[in-house]
Amino acid sequence: MNTVTENLTDQKNSIEKLTSPHSNKVNILMVDDHPENLLALKAVLTSPNYHLVSANSGKEALKCMLKQDFAVILLDVQMPGLNGFETAKLIKAREKTRHIPIIFITAISFDMEHVHEGYSVGAIDYIMKPFNPKTLKYKIEQFVKIHQNHQENIVQTDRERIVELNEMNKRLDRTTLNLRRTEALSKAIGETIVDTILTFDDQGSILSVNPAVKSMFGYSSEELIGRHVVGLFKEWMGTGVQASSFSFFTSIKESVGRVIESVAVRKDESHFYADILIGETTIEKQHLFVCSIRNVTERKQIEEIKKLQFNNMEQMVEKRTEELLRANERLQNEIEERERIASHLYRSQERFRKIFESSPCLMAIFSQKNLTFIEVNTSWLNFTGYSMEELENHKINVKNFIDESTGKPINLDLKIRNKKISYKTKNGDIRDGLLSTEMIDIHPEPCTLIVLTDITETVHLEKEMSRLDRLNLIGEMAAGIAHEIRNPMTTVQGFLQLSRNDSANLSTEIIDLMLEELTRANSIITEFLNLAKNKVSVKKKQNLNTILEALSPLIQAEAFRASKHVKLELNQCPDIFIDQKEIRQLVLNIALNGLDAMSSNGKLTIKTYTEKQAVILEIKDQGHGISPEVLQKLGTPFFTTKETGTGLGLAICYSVAKRHHAEIDIKTGDEGTVFSIRFQLSASPNQ
Ligand SMILES: Nc1ncnc2c1ncn2[C@@H]1O[C@H](COP(=O)(O)OP(=O)(O)O)[C@@H](O)[C@H]1O
Ligand SMILES: [Mg+2]
Repeated sequence: MNTVTENLTDQKNSIEKLTSPHSNKVNILMVDDHPENLLALKAVLTSPNYHLVSANSGKEALKCMLKQDFAVILLDVQMPGLNGFETAKLIKAREKTRHIPIIFITAISFDMEHVHEGYSVGAIDYIMKPFNPKTLKYKIEQFVKIHQNHQENIVQTDRERIVELNEMNKRLDRTTLNLRRTEALSKAIGETIVDTILTFDDQGSILSVNPAVKSMFGYSSEELIGRHVVGLFKEWMGTGVQASSFSFFTSIKESVGRVIESVAVRKDESHFYADILIGETTIEKQHLFVCSIRNVTERKQIEEIKKLQFNNMEQMVEKRTEELLRANERLQNEIEERERIASHLYRSQERFRKIFESSPCLMAIFSQKNLTFIEVNTSWLNFTGYSMEELENHKINVKNFIDESTGKPINLDLKIRNKKISYKTKNGDIRDGLLSTEMIDIHPEPCTLIVLTDITETVHLEKEMSRLDRLNLIGEMAAGIAHEIRNPMTTVQGFLQLSRNDSANLSTEIIDLMLEELTRANSIITEFLNLAKNKVSVKKKQNLNTILEALSPLIQAEAFRASKHVKLELNQCPDIFIDQKEIRQLVLNIALNGLDAMSSNGKLTIKTYTEKQAVILEIKDQGHGISPEVLQKLGTPFFTTKETGTGLGLAICYSVAKRHHAEIDIKTGDEGTVFSIRFQLSASPNQ
């Protein structure tokens, strides 16, 4: 750079020298050893455009030329010391002055030898003395013009060159600056970057490596220079790369500009994942590769984790989706189920409504809170005689529902099952019913459902049957009883007739005998009347044996009439809840059937005993037994094998047993029949 500036300064100076000190004037050097010649020349050439410099010898001329530049030199050939040709040679020898045109002025001869010599040293022209001043002036003018043009061209070219050079200089400055910056930057990058950056030639030999290699590979830069780059990798572009083969170059070329995933090997032979990026360049016709190696183990791990997480997430999403699908399916099923339930509900509601409406039972729903009717069915209205308006939203009158066992109004707070009640209709009729209640929730109100089965007709029928049966019993026994009563009467009558004639015969024994006979007749009549009486009786805790003892004369009388025997085997029994009237009817029915089945002299045994929390009444006959066909129909009302029978006896017995929660067991055969009636000790009066 310095030299360029210096050259430029020189050039500038030479231009200045040419024109200075008279800046607009052209320097012209005149050399002649004769001062008059010089004067003559001066006289011819004097011009405001010229600055004429005179020199008396070649030597002086050379001195002048050192000081300043000249546009043209007029040189005398013949001079003492350095002659004109020698001076010209020296001028032409000097680089700075060789371009100045020289005009030789000679008076000697104009032969060809001189001319040649003059040309050979570089003269431009010759002027012969004596010269024509005009011609000289003209020639000088022409030379000056040529010189000026030449100088101008030079100056112009120099200026252009200066501008160009300046421009180039600036560019160079910038380039140099950039280069230095880049150099510093790349140095800094090379030293500070964590990636390993190495260069290698087309044989794979490592040329340079940055300091990062130490921490990444464990090698120092020096250890790696000259080694093969492939040695740094366990795996690089698959197995295709061979350390020293032609294929190395081609495969490396192929991988230029691509990021290659690889596994790098450290000095200690441990491995790490690396991303390799190769770039190529050519410096002085030599192929050079730049390779950056980045440790991506962490990234790989993160990728692995991410992959894992992604997989997990995918699984989770899959699971969730599955769950959702299942849930959806469940929901769908549930919806279907609900729809089904809803339609089922609707249907069952419909059914319930129909059942409720068309049920022959009296049904009503009332609120537990204020006991008002919410709904009643048609049967309720029909049986009670009330209209819907009279009941709906009206309070239920519990006094109209009387518990038959206690005679008190029913308690609707409790759950009731088939309780026998009597209820009052609008017009005051009392009817019988079996009442059940159920607590139900009709959202949001707690309610009670009453179902009442009207059994007025059944009760009436049963009463009728019982009455009929009793009539039958009475009828059956009437004859026997008459006989039984006549017997003691005959005895008493006999004794009384005897004692009428002879009162002494009426001993105490006879009187006692008569009284006994009368008492017996009385007890039979009492029992008979008891049977006939339609008195109401309810269950009381009493002894079965007592009833049997009281009843025995009546049975005895009946047996005696038909020449049969009755035996009582009454063992001690605890008291039980029984209805005396009903039990009497039951015993008589079974006992009379037994007597009917036996022929003369047959024995009927009536036995009581206790067994397993039960009192057992056993009535055993020695009759013909019951055939299976008859046994099957036993208890069916109006079933009889007797000519004058009613077929009501056993039907009544079964209903009595049921009311007493007693079981009737029959054992029959050729030897006779045994009726066992088992009364539970635990049975309560109300059940
Ligand atoms: N102890 C018995 N031995 C044989 N048959 C019996 C006995 N008890 C009942 N029967 C049969 O059962 C039938 C029904 O008896 P019951 O109901 O008392 O009616 P009835 O005595 O009026 O015929 C009788 O007709 C009889 O055939
Ligand atoms: Mg009978």
